[in-house]
Amino acid sequence: MIRNVSLNRWNYRFWRRFSLTSCLAASLLGCGGSGDSLPSTAEPSAAPAPTSADPVSSAVSDSPASEPTPAKDAAMPTIATQSFGQTPDGAEITHYELTNANGLKVGLINFGAAVTKVETPDRDGRLANINLGWPDLAGYLENKPYFGGICGRYANRIALGKFTLDGEEYTLAANNPPGHLHGGKVGFNKKVWAAEPLADQNAVRFTYTSPDGEEGYPGALTVVVTYSLNDQNELKIDYSATTDKATVLNVTNHCYWNLAGAGVGTILDHNLTLFCSRYIPVDENAIPTGELATVEDTPMDFLKPEKIGTRIEQTVNGAGGYDHCYVVDGTYGELRPAAKVVDSASGRVMEVLTTEPGIQLYTGNFLNGTPDTNGFIKQSAFCLEAQHFPDSPNHPDFPTTELKPGETYRQTTVHKFSVAK
Ligand code: GLA
Repeated sequence: MIRNVSLNRWNYRFWRRFSLTSCLAASLLGCGGSGDSLPSTAEPSAAPAPTSADPVSSAVSDSPASEPTPAKDAAMPTIATQSFGQTPDGAEITHYELTNANGLKVGLINFGAAVTKVETPDRDGRLANINLGWPDLAGYLENKPYFGGICGRYANRIALGKFTLDGEEYTLAANNPPGHLHGGKVGFNKKVWAAEPLADQNAVRFTYTSPDGEEGYPGALTVVVTYSLNDQNELKIDYSATTDKATVLNVTNHCYWNLAGAGVGTILDHNLTLFCSRYIPVDENAIPTGELATVEDTPMDFLKPEKIGTRIEQTVNGAGGYDHCYVVDGTYGELRPAAKVVDSASGRVMEVLTTEPGIQLYTGNFLNGTPDTNGFIKQSAFCLEAQHFPDSPNHPDFPTTELKPGETYRQTTVHKFSVAK
């Protein structure tokens, strides 16, 4: 039975502190598993995807133009850069490749500040790309599933594309009828971002300024997203944002993961733990009903490790699977565990920690094996999108997503990769 619970006052106090909290991006546990002792050269994946298991890395290694950014000293990691083409408007898009001491690789582009690939080892040390993407810029220009991109200004849904802020009603595109999804017709995932490689941090910093009125949102908003890869096999995403007028925002990264390798079967056998005692029930349009319900005795319960596929058919209003936001246990604003996923077949493990109050579990229910989804089939990947709750501007009881001039929005989300024996 689903029991509804409301926010207690203690939590509420923390939640109202959205955007004012300095996030504790504390450094995490030490590195574990055989991922620490990788072979120096990448071996092929055990079962590469036919069309797109690793489209980008081959594009990078095939190009004679690929050149590392000059490092200040020998110990500093190098960030390989390569042209990724031009947008129809003539903007130059660059591909950046981060590599850590263990051989993990992360690909990034300044179109959508998107992650193009993440290569991690299986229990035998074989690298595979575990992040769904496109082989070229043309794919990202369309990118109906939002592979790898930063979603905003408001990720997830706003009911009927309407909200009121400081007494004024704003109308946004109903691009996911009847609601608004992932920032509208041209969200942050379709924007050209300024990029700055930070070799001393093995990081790339992306900046985008969304003009006042863009997609109907008030205020010129400057968003900074920094991806960094450390030698503890952690991919960290730091976000910050400031505005010149009161606005709303909810930013997230929309990576699709398959720990067996992109294009290798479905994720229904992956074991998932969500450190989330509550979730947000939604109506048939995927809009929150306003309740925060306990997961107890429901198919939403992943407090203990469970295969994603075990109860997926019993989910409600998730388009044939999970497409729901969970309330992450613990204190919003502090970096804390949100999810852990284990693929027993390959041994790959991914943990997600975040400062955000929520995390959207989406099991790729709209992937359909067509060119629109780069051939990836239904439920061949999962997303864990750290974020605020959907439709928060219309739910005063939810943690606020308002940002005012003088305030700084901050988020830190960490993906930690390891291997189970
Ligand atoms: C999010 C949504 C899903 C779907 C995907 C993109 O995760 O919650 O319903 O729209 O993005 O396909």
